[in-house]
Amino acid sequence: MPTGELRRPGEVIWTVVVAAGSGTRFGGPKQFEMMGDRRVMDWAVAIAREASDGVVVVLPPDVAEKEGGVAGGATRSESVRKGLAAVPKNATIICVHDAARPFANEDDFARVIEAVVDGADGAVPAIPVADTIKVVDDTGQVVRTPARGSLRAVQTPQAFRAEMLRRAHASNGEGTDDAALVETEGGKVVVVDGDVLNRKITTRDDLEWARAQQRGEQ
Ligand code: CTP
Ligand code: MG
Repeated sequence: MPTGELRRPGEVIWTVVVAAGSGTRFGGPKQFEMMGDRRVMDWAVAIAREASDGVVVVLPPDVAEKEGGVAGGATRSESVRKGLAAVPKNATIICVHDAARPFANEDDFARVIEAVVDGADGAVPAIPVADTIKVVDDTGQVVRTPARGSLRAVQTPQAFRAEMLRRAHASNGEGTDDAALVETEGGKVVVVDGDVLNRKITTRDDLEWARAQQRGEQ
């Protein structure tokens, strides 16, 4: 049961933490690297447990059983689907969170959950984009330049009305986040304020930054 402010009458909130990636860009499964006294993924699972009635952790198949999680798939979307299959049917709101984001906090969960309680099919934390973003083709030629003011970088945790997330995944679609599948399904996805500290560990530099942050050096 979520504590304090995170308790929502009439809602049963579950979180799927996806930790089954291989970390190609990092050079190994970054979710198992230490950050302070525990692994990167342990931080993500701990906050998910505080914010939810229940948590499903999706892991590489070789360690899933011994870690008490479920085995993931070849892509992030497949891993989410394996996790969803283990979420009880009575869940009314399902959050999806990257194990590679050790700095999400209760407020980050509360903002996305609140937006779904208020009627959105999905809610994602978003931060304004500082750089100009180009759309390019396979040859590297620029196709267009979207107006920066309309662009957002989005994070996890993302929250969804449970039946909408299940429906969005029913067609086995692929996306770099879950909101993309809900959008394709015609669902209403809203953005809430993101959190610059809630950075995803993608490269070695990100881990160095995260460790320094955790030690209070930055
Ligand atoms: N993930 C997963 N199953 C996959 C791929 C990704 O559970 N088949 C998880 C990762 O473990 C991570 C989150 O999804 O917590 C975000 O993915 P990403 O940062 O892309 O991690 P990786 O896919 O592991 O890294 P890369 O893309 O560099 O290979
Ligand atoms: Mg990936």
